[in-house]
Amino acid sequence: MEGVQLVKPSQVKEEAYLEYIKEWQASEEEIIPHASISKSKNYDEQIDIWRKEEQGIGIPEGWVSGSLFFLVNGEEKVLGAVHIRHKLTEPLLKRGGHIGYGVRPGERKKGYATEILKLSLNEARNLGINEVLITCDDDNPGSYKTIESNGGVRDPEDAEENGVLIRRYWIR
Ligand SMILES: CC(C)(COP(=O)(O)OP(=O)(O)OC[C@H]1O[C@@H](n2cnc3c(N)ncnc32)[C@H](O)[C@@H]1OP(=O)(O)O)[C@@H](O)C(=O)NCCC(=O)NCCS
Repeated sequence: MEGVQLVKPSQVKEEAYLEYIKEWQASEEEIIPHASISKSKNYDEQIDIWRKEEQGIGIPEGWVSGSLFFLVNGEEKVLGAVHIRHKLTEPLLKRGGHIGYGVRPGERKKGYATEILKLSLNEARNLGINEVLITCDDDNPGSYKTIESNGGVRDPEDAEENGVLIRRYWIR
């Protein structure tokens, strides 16, 4: 896809990030990935938090390190975000997997999630992850179509959480 790229948080301007989050908040939807929600009101401090989380510093017990990227266009507008978990844990094996992504409400159905996942697979490979697990709720066709068009092969074993069926896909 022309004109869009995945960048590290440090390459995103504070204004563009805040505008992105504001749109999610206005939609009253849960912001995904959760890792893209800032914990600090100070943006530079937040960039540092994300950098540390990538090294496994300051994350809760039992959590794994992860890398956050934003999808931006040529005008530096933030279109979506992706969080790549470096390792799987028992809970992530069931729900969460390696890669979680979201596209801002106003920019959906334009192919951005498909592009985010495609670019994320390169990043995962750079991180040494060769078998990528991606999970999605059975009632989220936008997400499972994204996974399937990126070569996701459904694991015969689904998971379940709070009565919701969770599809589990592998990309090798
Ligand atoms: C799911 C989500 C990431 C899809 O993003 P998107 O940018 O709209 O997806 P794309 O434009 O790349 O579309 C991918 C495919 O899904 C289809 N699709 C997208 N949204 C859809 C919807 N609400 N219902 C049905 N199909 C949908 C598209 O038509 C496309 O199908 P195609 O490959 O056959 O053409 C986005 O809706 C989102 O951020 N949702 C909230 C967070 C979330 O659910 N993240 C995934 C967690 S696993």
